[in-house]
Amino acid sequence: MTRVWNKSDWRAKPRVQMPDYPDAAALEAVEARLAKYPPLVFAGEARRLRSELAKAARGEAFLLQGGDCAESFAEFSADSIRETFKVMLQMAVVLTYGAKVPVVKVGRMAGQFAKPRSAPTEAKGGVELPSYRGDIINELEFTAEARVPDPERMLRAYTQAAASLNLLRAFSTGGFADIHRVHSWTTGFAEADKAERYRALSNRISDALNFMTAAGINSDRFSSMSSVDFYTSHEALLLEYEEALTRVDSTTGQTIAGSGHMIWIGDRTRQPDGAHVEFCRGVVNPVGLKCGPSMTTEDLKVLLSRLNPENEAGRLTLITRFGSGKVGDHLPRLVETVKQEGANVVWVCDAMHGNTIKSNTGYKTRPFHMVLEEVQQFFAAHRELGTIPGGVHFEMTGQDVTECTGGLRDVTDEDLSDRYHTACDPRLNASQSLELAFLVAEELSKRHEEARAVV
Ligand code: PEP
Ligand code: CO
Repeated sequence: MTRVWNKSDWRAKPRVQMPDYPDAAALEAVEARLAKYPPLVFAGEARRLRSELAKAARGEAFLLQGGDCAESFAEFSADSIRETFKVMLQMAVVLTYGAKVPVVKVGRMAGQFAKPRSAPTEAKGGVELPSYRGDIINELEFTAEARVPDPERMLRAYTQAAASLNLLRAFSTGGFADIHRVHSWTTGFAEADKAERYRALSNRISDALNFMTAAGINSDRFSSMSSVDFYTSHEALLLEYEEALTRVDSTTGQTIAGSGHMIWIGDRTRQPDGAHVEFCRGVVNPVGLKCGPSMTTEDLKVLLSRLNPENEAGRLTLITRFGSGKVGDHLPRLVETVKQEGANVVWVCDAMHGNTIKSNTGYKTRPFHMVLEEVQQFFAAHRELGTIPGGVHFEMTGQDVTECTGGLRDVTDEDLSDRYHTACDPRLNASQSLELAFLVAEELSKRHEEARAVV
């Protein structure tokens, strides 16, 4: 069945959260230039990720999706990319041990520039200006000039995404990951008394790796130890940019969003008849759909059929983000809908976006314990409903920032001002990310313990 879809059709649909560019000619000129640039990713890669995600839907793989809330031009450096990549690989080793299945690694990287905002304007000291919408659109600085949307920024975002992806591809194949040093990863928090549970697990992982080395299963002989598959993802928010990077795959004739391997639709832009759903339905990339408390079962039904009409495994990932304490109110009704429709989806827990609060010191933050609780509630609900928890989604960085409170190396409200660098939402730092991976691994291993208990 051929679907009628054109990459520009979204333009006729209602759009939200997108900028109104003041200079239409400048916008058109940028779109024309981008349309001639090479795509950042290729259809074969997106297809491979889709088949990995199909495994996650069946419980034969587990997705780890993580990175910045908003990539920024100012924070762009080889070091920050390398550190985030490294922490994700470390987390993946820990999760693999818990899950006993391969971990699919997808960065919120190399394209995560555009941001939906809860309010169109921001007021400070009696001055009201348009909100910051991510470096691909306008500038964070609080001046009227900086907040004007500038299409030229798309070209800079493209260049930064291309350079980031180039580095990630080099790290992925260059034997970057020394996964035999599990103990050294935990030194940041392992001295604390409460770290005993991590020490026990990292001892077991070390034992397993030592055994593999002794048995000759080492990085020289098995490429999966020295190279990794690493994919990119971002919210497909700025549709002029997405359309300009859309390409037709010459071998299959399929249309692909060339801006990243996986794209997702945000919780604020998922109107079934809106522009974002219209664009995403026509590209073959794996698509994520954020599902917050306001997702109705009626909307979900329409979205399932619109975004995945052939019900293909790995095509659609539902990224739930309800907030700690609210999972039980919403996940069961959405799971029920998916079951009724017989829809093929990957269930993923974004434990960040429902847990944002304002600290006593005035910073937007997320308490570590709430992030953990949402993940635990997600696993518990899926255990109860007999469905498969397919992955986790975090805003995180390899840098030692102080943006989320808590964790073993306790970040307090007072500490937040020390190294609060995010351009948008607060991220877990390296130590908090790894600690969370250990705790998620405990959840994952419950499945195996239960299976053993049954035998
Ligand atoms: C995000 O992932 O950065 C985001 C804005 O999420 P959501 O659409 O779920 O609020
Ligand atoms: Co965010």
